[in-house]
Amino acid sequence: MIELKTPGELDAMAAAGRVVARTLAALRDHARHGMRLRELNELAAGLIREAGAKPTFLGYHPRFAPTPYPAVICASRNDAVVHGIPGRERLGLGDLLSIDLAVHLDGWCADSAISFVVGGNGDAAKVDLALIDATERALQAGIDAARPGRRLGDVGAAISAVARGAGFGMLAGHGGHGIGRAMHEAPHVPNEGCPGHGLLLRPGLTFAIEPMLIAGGVDDYRHDPDGWTLRTADGSRAAHAEHTIGIAEDGPRVLTAP
Ligand code: MF3
Ligand code: CO
Repeated sequence: MIELKTPGELDAMAAAGRVVARTLAALRDHARHGMRLRELNELAAGLIREAGAKPTFLGYHPRFAPTPYPAVICASRNDAVVHGIPGRERLGLGDLLSIDLAVHLDGWCADSAISFVVGGNGDAAKVDLALIDATERALQAGIDAARPGRRLGDVGAAISAVARGAGFGMLAGHGGHGIGRAMHEAPHVPNEGCPGHGLLLRPGLTFAIEPMLIAGGVDDYRHDPDGWTLRTADGSRAAHAEHTIGIAEDGPRVLTAP
């Protein structure tokens, strides 16, 4: 079942989304060469607590996972695409880091992710910047397509046109999702699709759009022994960007904006 949200409920989700956006921005500012991923996790935990919100990932146990998720953020570095567990490992200059975060506030959930290069763009490889740029453009294209009267296939087609057009791969079998009171709700939001096909987009529909791009141009991945981290099969780097959006009468509304 898909629950359509009222404009007031979109406002409530946007309040959760602001906590996510501010926390992600703070993590990006603080991420430094030599820092442990675990320290970023602790920073996020504190900011979320201060905002009166709850970290949604911590203890989350979907069917595909062997264990409850043990952290507040996902921190996926270099060839890790998504669901990397922040541990003792230290960030290196020029690492490509993706951070994913969802929180609950007043019963509503918001979910977002960013990717950036540690040390800033001056320390980045050109291909990493191109990968991040294409990932962000794919996300924006998906958002722009999410208008009342259009269909879910239009969103996937817009995302893949950017990603494939730039020559990058997209993580096989993964995409976005409906979101609201729970992080994962219907519908599944594929990163590819047929224009004009799929679910009709109506005001009040809320979902997360999340392109996951792979530099090597292939879509395959493998799991780490931890059962969570997904890595590119070819060892090339990956980038992830995500926003939670709501369909308003006049078009898409980004609910995870600062
Ligand atoms: N944004 C990711 C997703 O929608 C976050 C899930 S991570 C988990 O799949 F740890 F919570 F599982
Ligand atoms: Co998500």
